[in-house]
Amino acid sequence: MHVPSLTFGALALLPSLSSAHFLFPHLMLNGVKTNPFEYVREHENGFMPSNNDFLTNQDFRCNKGSWQHRRDPKTAQVTAGKDVIGFHTQLDTGIYHPGPVTIYLSKAPGDVRDYDGSGDWFKVYQLGTKMPWNGTDQGWLTRDLRTFTFRIPNEIPAGQYLMRIEQMSIHPPYRQKEWYLQCAHLNIASSYNGRAPGPTIKIPGGIKISDPAVQLDSWAKPPPTFAPMPGPQLWPN
Ligand SMILES: *[C@@H]1O[C@H](CO)[C@@H](O)[C@H](O)[C@H]1NC(C)=O
Repeated sequence: MHVPSLTFGALALLPSLSSAHFLFPHLMLNGVKTNPFEYVREHENGFMPSNNDFLTNQDFRCNKGSWQHRRDPKTAQVTAGKDVIGFHTQLDTGIYHPGPVTIYLSKAPGDVRDYDGSGDWFKVYQLGTKMPWNGTDQGWLTRDLRTFTFRIPNEIPAGQYLMRIEQMSIHPPYRQKEWYLQCAHLNIASSYNGRAPGPTIKIPGGIKISDPAVQLDSWAKPPPTFAPMPGPQLWPN
C-alpha cells in the first residue's frame, strides 16, 4: 500500500512528541509508583517548558492552571522519618535535559486541597552534578533518571503539605533556562515539635534570575566546572 508522504512525515514526528519534555504525574511511595495524578495536582501546561519569565509568576508554584485541579488528587498519608517519597516522570521518560532537580515542601494552613502555595517553602531534596564536574551533560546525576525519591526527614511538623518538584534545564544558550514543575498532596504524620524548617523562600520571589544557579552558562568557553543549586539550603542541614 502506498503511504502518503504527509502521513509518513506525521508519524515520524510522533516519537519526539510523546517523549517531549517532562511531567511528574506519579507520586512515589515506598518504591511504589502510584497512578498518574492520583496524588499529584494536574496542570494545564502539558509537556511545555516555561522560561525565566516564570520566576516572577504565581504559576511558578505548581504550574499553569493547577489551581483548577486542586480538588482532583487524593492526599497521601505519610510518616516523617519513615516513608520514602518523591516523584516519577511520565511514560518512564528519562531526564534528558541537563540540570538540577529539587523538591520543596510548604505547609498548608488547613486542607492542602485548598492551598495555593502562598506560604513558606523549604527544600528537602536536591540532585546536581558529579563532583568534580567537567561541565558536560554527562556529568549531571539527574541524567536519564525517572524517579527522584528521599526519606521524609524526622524534622517535619505534622500537617498537610504541598510537595513541589522542579527541574531547571540548562541546555538553552547562555543564561536562558527551562523550568518543569509539579506538586503533590501530602498529609504528614509526625511527632516533631522543634525548630521550624528553614531557611524558607516564597514562590515566586525566592528564586531570582540573578541567582548563581540561574546564571550558570552551560555554553561558556571554557565550560563551567561548578553548578550551584537553585534555592535555599537543604532542611535539615
Ligand atoms: C565528562 O565526565 C563524564 C562522566 O562524568 C564522562 O562521561 C565524559 O566523557 C566526560 N567528558 C569529557 C569531555 O571529559
